[in-house]
This record gives sequence, structure tokens and C-alpha cells, in this order.
Amino acid sequence: MKIIRTLNGSVENIKPIWIMRQAGRCLPEYRELRKKSKNFMDFCLNQEMVLEATLQPIKRFDFDAAIIFSDILIIPHFLGQNVSFKEGVGPMLDKPNWDQIINGNIESEIEIIYKTIQLVRNELSKEKALLGFVGCPWTLASYMINSGKTNDFPKLISFVQNWPMFEKLINKLVEVISDHAIAQLRSGANAIQLFESWAAAVPANYRKKWLFDPATKIIQSIRNAIPDAKIIYYGRGIAGDAMVALDQLNVAFGISEDVNLLDLPHTNSCLQGNLDSKKLLNGNFKEDVFNILEFSKDKPFIVNLGHGILPDTPIGHVEEFVRLVRDAG
Ligand code: CP3
Repeated sequence: MKIIRTLNGSVENIKPIWIMRQAGRCLPEYRELRKKSKNFMDFCLNQEMVLEATLQPIKRFDFDAAIIFSDILIIPHFLGQNVSFKEGVGPMLDKPNWDQIINGNIESEIEIIYKTIQLVRNELSKEKALLGFVGCPWTLASYMINSGKTNDFPKLISFVQNWPMFEKLINKLVEVISDHAIAQLRSGANAIQLFESWAAAVPANYRKKWLFDPATKIIQSIRNAIPDAKIIYYGRGIAGDAMVALDQLNVAFGISEDVNLLDLPHTNSCLQGNLDSKKLLNGNFKEDVFNILEFSKDKPFIVNLGHGILPDTPIGHVEEFVRLVRDAG
């Protein structure tokens, strides 16, 4: 598996490629499949549908990795804070019962995800990696506290600074996220990506406490259970800080498009990214792909977008992106 070799430090001539949010969104065959289930969470827990949605982007684009079709909000959902999705609105979470969340456990229904990972791993060709994923505590907490809205971070930050339960919530999330990551790896996921999508909203003086200390604990618990686990940390907008803070933990770093690769601190770690999704949508991405390939030619590097693919991205642009990377070798 090219991606796993790369995560182990190998410099591949033709770089491996997958793209964040590759399943769903831009694929007409996904939209067809999605019509079969009214409720998104039901869809995420249906073995056949998850199998199909996970494999669709591989069949179409021949990426080097499949990412298991699921959602980061599965965790609050199974902690008892019901999650639903409204078209055009996004996620909506019930009003939280913090005592229940902090003192409760993940519901056993989550097991279906691990069975599905086993099934997908069996169906997927041996050369393709299967990625599992989790959302990190800050990003999950920001959805949980505001019932799904993530549009007013200054207000959220001043609230949590004075909220005595916040530390307990973060600690609970560290525990259940670690368990979820370990279970995915044990079920056949070849690597795990940690999504801290709202990292950049955290003021610099809180990043250690709210982002990097929890991430360190998660990474250490995963490694205690599975010493050679392959882990990609994606902190949107804060890759440079993350690379310094998590330097000793032997993880790969996802880089978002707002970060210039040439400005990153020196590292031997594997990097992943960072084409701008808007450019892939608009079609003016060729030069940026060449720049990414030039930067990475002597490094372990996984080609990807800097953030999730945008829903209206033409299929032809994705095909061209893959071709540019494969032809470069
Ligand atoms: O292809 C893949 O990457 C696998 C599946 C995946 C989904 N969500 C499916 C999904 C993954 C890895 C995620 C991660 C996720 N979910 C993140 C982190 C990545 C990022 O983009 O920053 C976040 C913040 C979420 C939360 C979430 N889930 C939102 C805000 C939404 C609403 C709109 C949207 O598409 O972003 C979702 C719903 C969701 N998750 C959909 C899909 C395919 C669309 C729902 C539908 O089809 O009805």
C-alpha cells in the first residue's frame, strides 16, 4: 500500500493521492444511493450503503485510499446527543444533557461501524489503504455546545473559558475518541486521520490546552494499544504550530490550503495536502499541483486537497488532478 509506505517515510516516485470528503458530495452515484435513506445517521449505520459509498470514489477515480463512510458527529450521537442533518442547514444536535454525556458511555450500536470496516477491508483491493477517522475534541465540542452551529467562535470561546464543565467534556471526548480510533484500527483500518477542522478558531494561548494536549493524549492512547498505528493529524489552518507541538509523536500532518508549504518548519514527518478546493472547483489548479509535486519530490508526501472537496466540483477536474499526479512520476 503506497500510502502506508509513505506514512512509514518512503519517498515514492509517484505520490499517493486521496481527497478529503471524497465519498458523497460531488458524486452523482452517491446522490442516487443517498436517496434510499431519509436520515443521514441511518445511512451511516447501514452496512451495504456504507460499503457502496466508501468504494464509489475508488471505482471512479482509482485513489490510493478509501476513507470509511461515516461522520465525526457519530461520537456525540452515541453519547446520547441525537444528531440529525437538514438539507441546506447542516448538522443539528439536540440540546445537550451534560451530566449524561460526561458520565455516560458510548452506545453499543456503534459496533456496526467496526463490522462494516471489516467488510469494506475485505472488499477493497490489497493495494488500497482503508482510512478510519475521528473528529478531535475541540471540533466535536464546538458542534455539541452550539447544537450544530459553528458560526460564532468568539462567543463560544468566552463561554468555555468560564465554564467549569469544559475540562471534563474535553477529557470525556479524549477517552471516547481514543476508543473509537483504536476500534477502527483493530477492525482493519490501515491508518487513522484525526480531524481538528475548527482548530484555527482557538486563540494561540489556548492551543496547547484545547488542541495539542488532548491530541497528544489521543495519540498516546492509540499507540499504547497499537504501537505502530499510522496517524495523520489534520489541524485546519494551524499545521505549523501542530508540527512543533506534536513533533515527537511520529505522526503525519495534514496541511490546509491557507498554509504555504515553503513556510512550514523543517520536518522528516510525512505531510499531506494541500491543493485549494476552490481551485479544483474552478479548474485553475495545474500550476499548484506542479508546485506541490516539486516541493514533495524528495519527501514522504500524500497528495490531497487542503480541505474537503466542494460539492459542485466537476468530476473531470478530479480526474485531471489524479492524472497530473500519476503522470508526474
Ligand atoms: O468522504 C469522506 O471523507 C468520508 C466521509 C465523511 C463525512 N464527513 C461524510 C458526510 C467524513 C470524513 C466527514 C468528516 C466531517 N464531518 C468533518 C471533518 C472534515 C471537514 O470537512 O472539516 C466535519 C466538520 C463533519 C461535520 C459535518 N457532517 C457537516 C458540517 C455536515 C454537513 C454538510 C457537509 O457535507 O459538510 C456533515 C454531513 C455529511 N458528512 C455529509 C457527508 C457525505 C453530507 C450529508 C448528506 O449526504 O446528506
